[in-house]
Amino acid sequence: MSEKFRLITAIALFFCVFRACAADSYDTNTSVLSISSVAVGDILYSNVKITLGDVVSVGSQTVADSYDTYNPVNNQLSIPVVQAGKNTYYSVVITVGKIISVGNSCTGLFTCYNATLPSLADVYAGKFLFGFGGVHDSLVRTKLLQTNSVMQQIVVKHSNIININCFYAGSVHPSSNVWKWDNCDKLLAFADNNPTWKKRAHVAFWPFNSSASLNLQWLLTGSDGQTVNREQAIVLLRDHITTMMTKYKGRFHYWDVVNEAVDYTQSDGIRAGLWKDVIGSDLVEVAFTIAREADPSAKLFYNDFNEWVPAKREAIYTLVKKLKDLGLIDGIGLQQHVGLTSPTTALLETAISRYAELGLEIHITELDVEVNPTGTYTELTPDLAIALSNRYKELFTVYAKYPGSITAVMNWNVIDSSSWLLAFPTAHTTWPLLFDADGKPKLAFWNLTN
Ligand code: GLA
Repeated sequence: MSEKFRLITAIALFFCVFRACAADSYDTNTSVLSISSVAVGDILYSNVKITLGDVVSVGSQTVADSYDTYNPVNNQLSIPVVQAGKNTYYSVVITVGKIISVGNSCTGLFTCYNATLPSLADVYAGKFLFGFGGVHDSLVRTKLLQTNSVMQQIVVKHSNIININCFYAGSVHPSSNVWKWDNCDKLLAFADNNPTWKKRAHVAFWPFNSSASLNLQWLLTGSDGQTVNREQAIVLLRDHITTMMTKYKGRFHYWDVVNEAVDYTQSDGIRAGLWKDVIGSDLVEVAFTIAREADPSAKLFYNDFNEWVPAKREAIYTLVKKLKDLGLIDGIGLQQHVGLTSPTTALLETAISRYAELGLEIHITELDVEVNPTGTYTELTPDLAIALSNRYKELFTVYAKYPGSITAVMNWNVIDSSSWLLAFPTAHTTWPLLFDADGKPKLAFWNLTN
């Protein structure tokens, strides 16, 4: 691990100690270990003081800065981080000597611990909104809607915006005149329980997805089996967009109207496909015109991926500028599915500052950081956790440099075990988010909140 990483971690932990997050401290004069919080089964004890028995093992780094865990069976205490004088030790296991004092106890481990954490929404208040998207994805939705689940507690604690992705054509409008509102209704009801939240809807129209259940191409086949003409296609698209936006009129602050329509290698900058063949190159303008009429109070967004690639960036810029000149758009959604080192933060910032020239709102809509693209690692090693933490910090530092332009940042999915990346592009293990599989904050979380 480089000296720079060591220094950054040491600085982060320094702040942690003084802001009473989880690092323990060992007084080398009195030989007393002060523990901020320790889990014993389902109980979380805070402000515990003990003396040491034996030191069983010491690691080199830690992947998480959270509560200690005590196992009464073998009397062992596992400590993620402990400060002893000027030294920091990681992943330490000791046996407990004497218990000197215990501050408070709280039953219901996750709830108790979650209550002690700073809220990401609060930390970034005044800069941008923070929240989560991908909440319709099957792994997240069930847990999110379950009272007091880990996922629900995290989302409620850390959000002031939610990106509800229940409007995929395949789920909401699977065939002609068939509408399924159940999932959207439930997710919206959950969001409404948090009345201060802003709500985004994703996504009204995703015309060039290769999946038939998402691209809505079946709509283009008439009852005679022939492909419809432009006028008929616009009527059908109007019905699709207007039905959804009218049903929830006034309830969503933001709508992703069109997802992933740009291809810079095409002369008109728009991806090739049936929808363009039928309607033409102004397909995106047509969709935004319909959306503007359907809910004039909603802010309308165009959303895309690889938005930092210079040629694609310019094609997106050109499209969005045209929409802006027509008064049809309010914001740009940058998906921001990134790797640990690629694209460089500098390239991401170049794109953000270019889009900011348009004077529209920018939402970071689907942020995650792929740390294991080749599947090399079987666990989140300390070095990976630190690299992830530094990457998140760099990204949020850039986002915070564009107040008034970047108005919201959302992770895609909530805890590592719910990430779509686990299956993309093929099944592999990875840890792209701020919370681990148990919902415990990772180093990246502490780096963002300190
Ligand atoms: C894209 C889309 C999202 C979602 C993710 C994968 O980024 O915009 O709606 O499908 O892929 O979860």
